[in-house]
Amino acid sequence: MSITFENVSYIYSEGTPFRYEALSEINLEIEEGKMTAVIGETGSGKSTLVQHLNALLLPTKGTVHILGRTIEAGTQPKGLKSLRGDAGLVFQFPEYQLFEETVIKDIAFGPKNFGISEEEALKRARNAMKLVGLDEQYEERSPLELSGGQKRRVAIAGILAMDPKVLVLDEPTAGLDPMSTVRMMELFRKLNKEHGKTVLIVTHDMEQVFRYCDNVIVVEHGRIRTQSSVSEFFRDSSVCRGMNILPPAMIRMRDLLNENGFDIADTVMDTEALVNAVERQVKRHG
Ligand SMILES: Nc1ncnc2c1ncn2[C@@H]1O[C@H](COP(=O)(O)OP(=O)(O)OP(=O)(O)O)[C@@H](O)[C@H]1O
Ligand SMILES: [Mg+2]
Repeated sequence: MSITFENVSYIYSEGTPFRYEALSEINLEIEEGKMTAVIGETGSGKSTLVQHLNALLLPTKGTVHILGRTIEAGTQPKGLKSLRGDAGLVFQFPEYQLFEETVIKDIAFGPKNFGISEEEALKRARNAMKLVGLDEQYEERSPLELSGGQKRRVAIAGILAMDPKVLVLDEPTAGLDPMSTVRMMELFRKLNKEHGKTVLIVTHDMEQVFRYCDNVIVVEHGRIRTQSSVSEFFRDSSVCRGMNILPPAMIRMRDLLNENGFDIADTVMDTEALVNAVERQVKRHG
């Protein structure tokens, strides 16, 4: 099963002088059970694209198929609430997502809204806080008083507490320190690998794409420039350089070695293989 976009266009402020076509005739297939990165320059349409997955935005033209639901332009979609329970979206700016008086109430809001008992919702909220690395002492704090990175964790915990099948994360590690970033990415990987969640992550960080994701979608001026597996995408770095994307450090290192007389195949995609290849060639030329 996969999530598909068929000829989806999205226009902001249709019928006004501010009309702007942010997505143009998008066709996409997002594999369920995988981790997919959505990348592209600022303003290319990534956030607009991912907000279609939980029907926060409805297509101006075209159709989205997700988790057995069909969202078609011009028709009032049915079962929106249940879709939003199954496809959780963490906004790029999580402060827009937080509104309860305390952190714990905010995180428990989603499950409660879906008819889960107060006690069970609080249990889930506490568990989600643990997963994202928020200490118990934050439970009674106001989400408005938190730092940007802490707010982001609360927003992510709020979505995790709903236990969605599809997790859509719009720049989830922006504003987190490097250690927290790694922990957060490891958490998403665990949710994907061990709990079978489909993860879609918008990011500008190619190291994250390279290390954690299976597939990559490149958005450019509201269109899909390319869609492929991550290993295929980074294999020949001239492809991503041609799209103005800086390849991951490991690939840049391989290129640099090749420019300096080594002959390392483009199938060498991890540090261990790179070190082995360098060692072999150094020994051969003694
Ligand atoms: N509410 C809005 N009204 C009008 N235009 C909008 C609105 N939101 C976004 N846009 C425009 O649509 C285009 C795509 O915006 P979007 O937020 O999807 O880009 P993005 O790829 O997520 O960028 P970033 O990397 O900066 O987050 C931009 O040109 C933006 O100016
Ligand atoms: Mg964005």
